[in-house]
Formats: sequence, C-alpha cells, structure tokens
Amino acid sequence: AWLSVAGPREVVLAAPRSFCAGVERAIEIVEYALEQRAGPVHVRKQIVHNTHVVADLEARGAVFVDELDEVPDGATVVFSAHGVSPAVHAEAERRGLEVIDATCPLVTKVHAEARRFAARGDTVVLIGHAGHEEVEGTLGEAPDRTVLVETPADVEGLRVGDPERVSYLTQTTLAVDETAEVVDALRARFPAVRGPASDDICYATTNRQDALKAIAEEADLVLVVGSANSSNSVRLAELARRSGAPGHLVDDVGGIRPEWLAGARRIGLTAGASAPPHLVGAVVAALSGLGPVTVTEHETARETIRFTLPPAVRPSS
Ligand code: F3S
Repeated sequence: AWLSVAGPREVVLAAPRSFCAGVERAIEIVEYALEQRAGPVHVRKQIVHNTHVVADLEARGAVFVDELDEVPDGATVVFSAHGVSPAVHAEAERRGLEVIDATCPLVTKVHAEARRFAARGDTVVLIGHAGHEEVEGTLGEAPDRTVLVETPADVEGLRVGDPERVSYLTQTTLAVDETAEVVDALRARFPAVRGPASDDICYATTNRQDALKAIAEEADLVLVVGSANSSNSVRLAELARRSGAPGHLVDDVGGIRPEWLAGARRIGLTAGASAPPHLVGAVVAALSGLGPVTVTEHETARETIRFTLPPAVRPSS
C-alpha cells in the first residue's frame, strides 16, 4: 500500500505548533519532582493529554493514578496541567499529601474568574466540553452557580435565576470561531451578560489555530499530531476540515494511513500543544522515506512566553 503513495511531496509546517508553555512547565514539574523526591511521585490524571508524554514519564518512575484514593497517605502527588476542583485540594490536605500543583497558570486564572463571578451573585455559564478534566475543575469552584454549555443550542435551553446577573467563562482549548458563536448566542439572550474580554481561550490554542488556518486551505491533506483526548489537538483537526482539507489526528507516525497520502502532494503538518516536537520530526522522516520531500515552515506568530516553576520544585541555583 505504501509503494503506491510514493512522493514527491511538499510538507508545510504550521508554526507555532507542539508544546505550549503550560505543558512544558507541567512536564518539567514531574521531572524535577522525580529528581528531588526520595519516595514515589504520583500524578493525578494524565499530566497532559498525550500518550507519549505519559508513557515517557511513567518509564522514568512517575506513578499515574486516576483519583487520590490510590495515593498512600503522606505521599507526593502532582496535579495535572488541567487543574483540579477545590474539593480535590481539600481532600489532599485532609490526607496529608504533599501537593505539587502543575495546573497551567492560564487555567488558574479562569478558576479565579469563576470565584469572582460567583461571589458577585451571578449565574456562571461555562462554555466547554462536558467531562473534560479542565471543565470539571473549573465547575468545582462554584458548583451551585455554574452551568455548562457547549453549543448555541444549549444557550437556548438555559435557565438562570436572574437574567441581569449572568457571566460567562470558557475552557482554554476551544475553537475560537465556534466559541464566538456561543458567546454571541449568550449576548443575544442575556444582553447584560459579562465575561472576560472575549473568551478564556489561551494564547497557545489561538496561535495554533491561526497557524493551521494559514496552511490548511492550500493543503491536500492536513495531519495533526496529538492524542484523541487532547481538546486543542482535536479542535485543530476539526478546523482543518472546516477549512476544506481532509484533516486527521494521529498520535504518532504509526497512525497515518496510506490511503490518506494518495494524491496528497502538499501536506500541512502541525501538532497540538501537548504533543512532543520529536513526533513531528518522525512524520517528516517517514514521508521522506516515500520519496523526495520539500519542507517549508509557515510562521504566523512567535511565542516567547515561559511560566516559572512552583516553589515546591524550583531548583535553588
Ligand atoms: Fe496552558 Fe493553554 Fe497550554 S491553557 S497548558 S498554555 S494549551
């Protein structure tokens, strides 16, 4: 099957792509904890939503658990980049666990907004995907005052105590265009609605979507490297399809199907914020094995943002 899809090809890399500052920080936190702690380092949930990152840290000794009851009393636990609800923090404290919090600072910011909006007596409308860990964490800040919506249709069915007292928040990894539609629906129904300036979608999500849009229209095929449970990666593949190119999400080079490559002379390539850069290199290498490949990069923004590590793991020098 692979012989029939021999090159030549052009690969256009979207930039920015791959790791964001919050993911880099979360991975570094686990690495430092493994180095610095004598006992086992537990991580509640996947540190970031990527199978390769999790497998790599597991191989280096990190113990991934689903809930705190799997962590022995007094042990060390890292909270994932997606954040946790206050109830999880309280439980960890009650259990005497050492918590190292790898929540992305941009998620922490949304939690603070949730508390502020709820404290002024508003119904808080959270725009996001049901069941996603970030959403569960944010909902936990004010569970009695917060309602979750995903689509403009959900807004139609909303019931709020006082339509004059409504605010909204968003998950950080949503599609910018789809979220704007939900916000528009909220504004139409509740003209007094208050929220962040536009949404809480983070710089990395926005930049990766802009970069992808810039290459998708001209591409015969778009490959997005990322895991199936990674919200921002899934959004990139959807965005490629909305731009008119067949878009596929693959965990790594092994996920590429030969039939996708048939007739695909120009391939757009990107990676979600939780996907390691070396996986993108492996895709380029594999395509080069099928014939001559010209690689170019289309950069739409330059990212320089870095987040500091929490004191619990900050190296002293
Ligand atoms: Fe943070 Fe955005 Fe990355 S919220 S973890 S910078 S995708």
